[in-house]
Formats: sequence, C-alpha cells, structure tokens
Amino acid sequence: MRELKVGEAMQETIGLYIHIPFCQKKCHYCDFLTFVDMEERMDEYVTYLIKEMALYSGNYQLDTIYFGGGTPSYLEAEQMVKIMEAIQSHFVILSDCEISIEMNPESVTEEKVKTYLKYGFNRFSMGVQSFDDATLRMMGRLHDRETVYQKIALLKDLGVKKLGIDLMFANPKQDMDVLKRDIELAMELPLNHISYYSLMIKENTPFQRWVLTGQMRVLDDEIEREMYHYIQSELTKHGFHQYEISNFAKGDVESRHNKKYWQLKNYLGIGLGASSNIDFVRFVNHRRFDDYYGMIDQGEYPIQISEKLSLEDREKEYIMLNLRLLKGFEFSEINQRFGIDFLTKYQAVLSKHKKLGLIDYDNQGIWFTEKGLDVGNQFYLDIL
Ligand SMILES: C[S@@+](CC[C@H](N)C(=O)[O-])C[C@H]1O[C@@H](n2cnc3c(N)ncnc32)[C@H](O)[C@@H]1O
Ligand code: SF4
Repeated sequence: MRELKVGEAMQETIGLYIHIPFCQKKCHYCDFLTFVDMEERMDEYVTYLIKEMALYSGNYQLDTIYFGGGTPSYLEAEQMVKIMEAIQSHFVILSDCEISIEMNPESVTEEKVKTYLKYGFNRFSMGVQSFDDATLRMMGRLHDRETVYQKIALLKDLGVKKLGIDLMFANPKQDMDVLKRDIELAMELPLNHISYYSLMIKENTPFQRWVLTGQMRVLDDEIEREMYHYIQSELTKHGFHQYEISNFAKGDVESRHNKKYWQLKNYLGIGLGASSNIDFVRFVNHRRFDDYYGMIDQGEYPIQISEKLSLEDREKEYIMLNLRLLKGFEFSEINQRFGIDFLTKYQAVLSKHKKLGLIDYDNQGIWFTEKGLDVGNQFYLDIL
C-alpha cells in the first residue's frame, strides 16, 4: 500500500479536535496537558493554532469540531472568534456539523455563550464532577453547586439545546450517600448527556501524593463497581441510555465526535499535544510550547510522534475501541475494513468468552455483556 502523507487526502470528511491547554487552576486529580497562570500567553497560542490550521488548509471538510482541554471556556470570546474564523477559512464546515465545547462552570459568561451560539456551537458540556461542595473543594475545583445552577440556567435561557455534564465517582471522599445525592440533583436538571467517569489516580497529582502518604484511601473495586452499577440503573430509569462505558445520552445527543475515537474514524487534532488519526497514520503533536511553536515557525507540521500501524494492529485496536460502545460493532464493517472473516479468525476466543458470559454475538455483530463491560480486559488479553 502507498504511504499516505499527513493531510494528503483531498476534502476527506473528518472530525477536528482543538486543544486548549489552559486552566484557571489545576484540579487535584488531573494530569491532562494543561497549564495555569498563562493568561498572557493565550493570544500567542491562538495565533499558533491558526498557523497550524493553515498547514492543513483546503484538505478537509468537517462533520464534527470539538474544543477540549484544559478549559476551552477559559478563552476570551474574541479569541474563540479568531479560532472559529480560521476554521471557516481553512476547512469546509458541513451544514450539520456537530460543534462541541468543554466548559468549566466558573468561566462561562453570557458574552461567551452568545459568541459560541453565533458561531454554530451546538453541543455544550460542563465539568461539574459533583454537586457536593465539600467534595468539590477537596477535588480542587473552583466552582460550587450554586454556580452550576446559575450557569446551566444561563445556557438554557440563551437557547442551548444539547447540554451535558461530566461527573466523577469513586472519589475516596465521596461515599454512596454523596453519589446518590449527586445523581438525584443531576436528574433534576435539563440535561441530555452525562459522562460519568470513575476517578483514576494519576501520577504526580496531589491525589496520588495523598494516597501514597495514607491521607487518602482508594476505594475497593467492589464498591467502585457497586457505584457504577447504581449509576447505570439510575440514569437508565431517568430516560438516559448508556452508549459507551462512561457515557449516557437522551435521544440522539450522543457525542458524534467522541464516537469517531471509538470507531477508529478519521480525526485531526490541532494544538499542543493533540493527537490525530488519519487513515493508517496516527500522529501526536509536540507537548512543549517551544517545540510546538518552533516547528510551526519553520512551516512544518508540529508533530512529535507519527506511527503507521500495521493492518493487524489496527484490527485489534478496532475491536478493543469499538467494544467500549454498548452496541459493539457489526461483522460486515470489520470484515470489509480489514479484509477478514471475523467469526472464523477469532472463533476460539469468541466461543471461550461467550461461555464465560463476557461477550455476546449474533450473526450480525458482537457486543460486551454487562459482565464484559466490567472485566473486558480478560477478553482483550486473548484478542491480543
Ligand atoms: C480533562 S477535563 C476537561 C474539561 C474541563 N476542564 C473540566 O474539568 O470539566 C474532562 C473530564 O475528564 C475527567 N477527568 C479528569 N481527570 C480525571 C481523572 N483523574 N479520573 C477520571 N476522570 C477525570 C473530568 O470529569 C473532566 O470533566
Ligand atoms: S479537570 Fe479540567 S479544569 Fe481541572 S485541571 Fe483538568 S482540565 Fe483543568
């Protein structure tokens, strides 16, 4: 097969991810690529985002755009205007393009939301994490429950339709009562999407330090699973359907952009440390400002790592990522994409794990059972 160069395919339809690596304050559990106290460098960063986009000019049309971070809502309205205008000039934005933004409650303002709406943003996601003020303080968040209520009311008043929040569970200081109350309060709000993440203790975070010094105890797996099952049943009771391990939606408000990641579709990541997946090439941008800016100044793609996976590796990745989706995947698609007969190739693994109750399949497709969603790793090990 001929090597495909980055950005070579003409007017291919892809998703665009824009990374905004700034936050007002670093949360105690977070290890995402984001920096604090850099407001005065945000203009410069926006300039480089635009220069990076220019390198891909004319190559792609977009059916999803996703602003993630960090805290995209921390940008000033006019900085967002500059980015959106650059996207409009370097890419074709399809008429039904999904345009999403991650927001932190305290940084949402009327001016910013009006700007988002003016530029076609149609999916809004707010990082709430918990409605319990003591839990929020311990996590190092800047907002409280009241701020969440005010900002959600503002978003709804201004006409936002697709609105979701991120919540976290298995936080050592959050017992079952706090979790139940979090869900109760979330269900009273006008939301149609919820991402509910199980807390991961990340390296070099205050949370990790507190665990290592015994100030914080990680929850037992059993309790963590009990919480997860409780979330699944409560959200389902309230009209949400689960479509991915951590994601729940009402109606069609599933994240089209995030589904591209799990379905191994093409997406381009712009910005510091952003990763992309275009056809059979996966590439990741530099994670240091100087390197990122330096490459762009030389008119080069600011890519640090680029790898072309073998078809076999892609196939395994396809299986593992797609099984994060509750509906799993269809045989016709994997067979066509990788030129295999999935049922024949994986026959032994499939029958073993069906007997163990981890997976289920019919003559069209395969998906994880409830048990499989909990202990999917066993299946992955055999696939690999
Ligand atoms: C990287 S943040 C970006 C959005 C925004 N800055 C915020 O905090 O809401 C996206 C989401 O990742 C989740 N997250 C961050 N660190 C996590 C961790 N250590 N374990 C589990 N989820 C985490 C949080 O729920 C957060 O809302
Ligand atoms: S969780 Fe969000 S707000 Fe907190 S540090 Fe991470 S990216 Fe920033």
